[in-house]
Amino acid sequence: MFELTGKTAVVTGGARGIGKAISTTLAKQGASVAVADLNPREAADTVSVIKSAGGNAMAVETDVTDLESVKAAVKKVTEELGAIDILVNNAGWDRIMPFIKTTPDFWDKVIAINYRGVLNTVYAVAEGMMAKNSGKIINISSDAALVGSMGEAVYAGAKGAIVSFSKSMAREFARNKINVNVVCPGPTETPLIDDMKAADDFAVKVLGNIDKAIPLKRLGRPEDIAAAVIFLASDAADYITGQVLSVSGGLSMSS
Ligand SMILES: NC(=O)c1ccc[n+]([C@@H]2O[C@H](COP(=O)([O-])OP(=O)(O)OC[C@H]3O[C@@H](n4cnc5c(N)ncnc54)[C@H](O)[C@@H]3O)[C@@H](O)[C@H]2O)c1
Repeated sequence: MFELTGKTAVVTGGARGIGKAISTTLAKQGASVAVADLNPREAADTVSVIKSAGGNAMAVETDVTDLESVKAAVKKVTEELGAIDILVNNAGWDRIMPFIKTTPDFWDKVIAINYRGVLNTVYAVAEGMMAKNSGKIINISSDAALVGSMGEAVYAGAKGAIVSFSKSMAREFARNKINVNVVCPGPTETPLIDDMKAADDFAVKVLGNIDKAIPLKRLGRPEDIAAAVIFLASDAADYITGQVLSVSGGLSMSS
């Protein structure tokens, strides 16, 4: 099930956290994986993990906020691994603080990484997928997009934009047999959560007892999110497009 041998996948932000789990799981299922990340050292480490497990992967330094950087990465991946079948837009970033404490520079950064980055990558892979008349695009949003999130107003807005954009692209790309779906993690144990807690006491307060509010009584693990992505990347999901799947231990039950 979920066999991906012969497929080429790109995972943005694939070096660590959820992206690392997605990259390693895609490779385990047989895909050749491009770990496209701002951080070349951590991307190389993830590639080593995949290769030592017998998988095929490459690191490609990419800044998703910069269309030229994304185009160059797509060209390199296509040359080295073949035409791209699967795009996972996972790169993201945030800091938790009350909206009135944020600044316009912060808004620009959050929107550039979390939303503009998705526009850039979809734009860059679209032609290749349309030429093949097939493709799977999985965009990582957040439960914050569905139900809001205290201290993450700008991020929640950017993640909400991903949902609307993905549904629109699912309609546009349907004629090209390109499926576009969204996975919304709830709070998940990754370095991002650690960074947010270290940056602000407000984040510690917001995230402190969050596991108690989760029906399944624990935070997500990166592997939980990867499992949903693998399904949506596979032929088993050929008839699913424009959908939003929350992977949050039941924290959010609306979409
Ligand atoms: N961890 C959570 O609780 C949680 C919850 C909901 C949604 N998400 C989303 O899941 C995704 C992964 O989050 P994570 O917790 O694993 O984060 P993380 O910070 O642990 O990893 C993010 C990766 O993205 C890379 N990245 C950042 N900016 C980039 C850029 N401009 N170009 C390319 N790569 C860039 C980083 O180098 C890093 O490797 C994000 O989209 C995040 O918003 C996370």
